[in-house]
This record gives sequence, structure tokens and C-alpha cells, in this order.
Amino acid sequence: MLKRPRRNRKTAAIRGMVRETQLSVENLVQPLFLVSKETSREPVKSLPNTYRLGIRETLKEVEDSLNLGITNFILFPVVPDQYKDKFATYGHHEDNFYLKITAEIKRRFPETCLISDVAMDPYSTDGHDGLVRDGKIINDETLPILAKMAVAQAAAGFDLLGPSDMMDGRVGYMRQALDAAGYTDTGIMAYTAKYASAFYGPFRQALDSAPKAGDKKTYQMDPANQREALIEAALDIEEGADFIMVKPALNYLDVISLLKNNTETPVSAYHVSGECAMLIAAAEKGWIDLDQAVQETLMCLRRAGSDVIITYFTKHYARMMKQGYMPEERKEPKTH
Ligand code: PBG
Repeated sequence: MLKRPRRNRKTAAIRGMVRETQLSVENLVQPLFLVSKETSREPVKSLPNTYRLGIRETLKEVEDSLNLGITNFILFPVVPDQYKDKFATYGHHEDNFYLKITAEIKRRFPETCLISDVAMDPYSTDGHDGLVRDGKIINDETLPILAKMAVAQAAAGFDLLGPSDMMDGRVGYMRQALDAAGYTDTGIMAYTAKYASAFYGPFRQALDSAPKAGDKKTYQMDPANQREALIEAALDIEEGADFIMVKPALNYLDVISLLKNNTETPVSAYHVSGECAMLIAAAEKGWIDLDQAVQETLMCLRRAGSDVIITYFTKHYARMMKQGYMPEERKEPKTH
């Protein structure tokens, strides 16, 4: 045998030299669920170790995360029912607690990168990402609502806005509104290929934002489609997206690498709530080792082409790193 691939796997040092992909906390984004309370820390039942945080706990969480090297956060509001209406007006209301907490985080921790969620569902009595009339989602009438939300979020100090609604034309519409209001430096991380997925369950429970009727299949993509992601990517990039996103992540690794190989725009992967919950559930049963599974999962998302990974394991991974976790022992056994 002239070729023996195992020679390049002989020791940890050699494996380290030929490792093709690097993963660092810099690539990761931590999602946070915010509630309109001075102090609160309610666990999300379907996603262990994730909490709905009050103002005080949010600021503490950001501070603790920064100490672990985490700088990137994506924020979601848990909106009380009495603030919800058909037009999601609370989304751009001046009293909106989500905008106020954001401004406070930015004031105290200017080194953070804060990413928003632009969509009607947390604020809407219908629980849909767009405006509902006669059971239909009305695309073009949703755009001005999203644009108002986007401008209010830019004013609050978000670095990147994350339209997660999948309406046609929303990136360009938002970009124009932002520029007209003077927010030329506020970026857009577009949810480009967001699929109608079974894996958003724990998130909708955390936010209490499930659709009241129907499903999201007329705007979120069909899991059967890959090439269609190229159409969405071309549009988002042409309309001014600074990042494009694939969501969920693990069942869509092919879509991640397709977008990575066909565009020059940075690609984010959203490792969603249901995907994280599955790993935790299996680990709780003692069926897998959570540290190893998290490390492998995030590494594979990088290998597939993700520049950025949004994951509920950001803090878990940062802690593993801080504690000196090594994917493998450096001390080699005497024989191999
Ligand atoms: C809503 C939104 C959803 C997620 C992020 N933004 C849910 C949905 O589309 O129903 C899901 C994230 C997750 O499951 O972790 N616009």
C-alpha cells in the first residue's frame, strides 16, 4: 500500500495540523428571550437551560457572557397579550420594552453585537409573521409595518436587524427605510432560506407566538426545496442583505454549502430550538455525551460553510472552552 490515510490521523499533533475547519466563540451568537419585568428568570420548559429574562437578569447574562468571550446576541421579546394587536403596533411603539432594554445593553456594553428579530409574530394577535386578512398573509401591506419596526430597532441601537418573516421584497424595503432615516450603518442579517419546520416548537412556546390559525407554509420554504434557496439568496443580496441565513441548520447542511459556494455574502446558520432540545433530551437520558455532541455539531455546521452560527449552546460551548475542553487528549497512549 503506497497510500495509508491513517498516517495523517496518527497523533493529536498531526490531526491538529491537517484539521480543515476551525470553530471559535467569535463565530457564535447567543439567543436571549426578554420579558417586560424588572426581575425574572423563568425556565423555558421545552429547552432546558434557557430562560425568559427580566431586565436585571438580561444585563447580568450579557455581562457573564462577555466574560466568557461571547460578544454576539440575538434578542427576542416575550410580549404580554394585552400589547398584541392585528397590526403588531407595539413592535414600533415608543414604550416597547424590547427596544428599551436593547438601548440599555448597548449603553452599558457597547462592545456587543446585538441582532434583532423583525417579524410581526411576537406582537400579533394572529401569531403570524405578516398581516392576516381573510385567512391570507398580505405581503405588500406587511412591508411598511416591518419597515417601521426596523427603523425603531435601528434607533434603539441594534447593530444588525434580522428579518425572519420571509415576505417578498422586505430586505430592500427595510434598507430604503433605514437609509432614509439616516441608519446607513445598521446592517441586515436576512433569514434567507427559512424553512417551514417542525423544529421551532420550543421557541414558539418560549415566546407564546404560535400561529392562532393555519401554518406558515405560504411564506416559509418547503423543506423539499434546495435550488429555491438560490432565488431567495440572489434577491436578499441584491436588496442589500449583509448576511444571509439558513434556518434550521442540521437538516439543511446542503443548503448552507450551496449558498456558501454560490455567493460572496457571509452565511449564518440558525441551529434552532428544537434541534438543541433534541441533543439535551438524548444527553439527559444518558444516550450521548453532550459536550462531544455540541462540539461535533457546531464544527460540522462550520465545515458545511457557516460563517456564523446562532445556537442555544453558545454559552455551553464558551464554558467548555474556558474550562480547557479539548476535543481529544493531547497525551497520546504509548501504543496505537
Ligand atoms: C419568528 C421566528 C421563529 C424563530 C425565530 N424567529 C419561529 C417561527 O418562525 O415560527 C425560531 C427560532 C428557533 O426555533 O430557535 N419570526
